[in-house]
Amino acid sequence: MLNLEQMKQLAGESAIKYIEDGMIVGVGTGSTVKYFIEKLATRKNDIKGAIPSSEQTATLLKQYNIPILDLNSSGIIDIYVDGADEINHYLEMIKGGGAALTREKIIAACARKFICIADESKYVVKLGTFPLPVEVIPMARSYVAREILKLDGAPDFRTGVVTDNGNVILDIHNLDITQPMDLEAKINNIVGVVTNGLFAKRGADVLLLAKKDGSLDVINGETYVK
Ligand code: 5RP
Repeated sequence: MLNLEQMKQLAGESAIKYIEDGMIVGVGTGSTVKYFIEKLATRKNDIKGAIPSSEQTATLLKQYNIPILDLNSSGIIDIYVDGADEINHYLEMIKGGGAALTREKIIAACARKFICIADESKYVVKLGTFPLPVEVIPMARSYVAREILKLDGAPDFRTGVVTDNGNVILDIHNLDITQPMDLEAKINNIVGVVTNGLFAKRGADVLLLAKKDGSLDVINGETYVK
């Protein structure tokens, strides 16, 4: 039986088989991605370069001498590998536990293929047990919190956290997420919100889900009809 860390390792390392020579690779953020980066280091001379989704990931890439590219000059990203805080069977996700959601969403939008790497504890029937992170311009914090209350969510200011973009995070509890795509758009439409951690409009294409019994489920988003 695998423990949590071993499941993260299995999921993270398994993503390396999707990396082809000459690719531009988007690299997510978090404890599962760390294992992917270790493997990516063994292919650093084969890829065109990597685009980090956070300063934390940029630091790791530099430690492994993996070439970093600038998204504004790189063009389309061939593949994006990242974790999730929750993911459902449509491969819609909640992300942002590590406060990197905005850059993650930008990279996901630019990527041809999004591979989500996760342990089985992240796979849920319905999104929303994990509080939904929302990145907010600091001066709009109270206004956004009041608007979220109108959606029956309970916002909680994440103290001591400033995002890589200089903003703050509200974690929204108690949301009834029956229509992830609608809610994603609704929250993004509140003035002062930079983005929210629902990845429904652009979900993952493939989920590599590591299981306690040591197996890896490969779940293809195209299998499901929305
Ligand atoms: C960071 C994220 C991460 O992908 C998410 O928090 C999962 O992280 P971990 O692999 O450490 O559980 O969205 O903003």
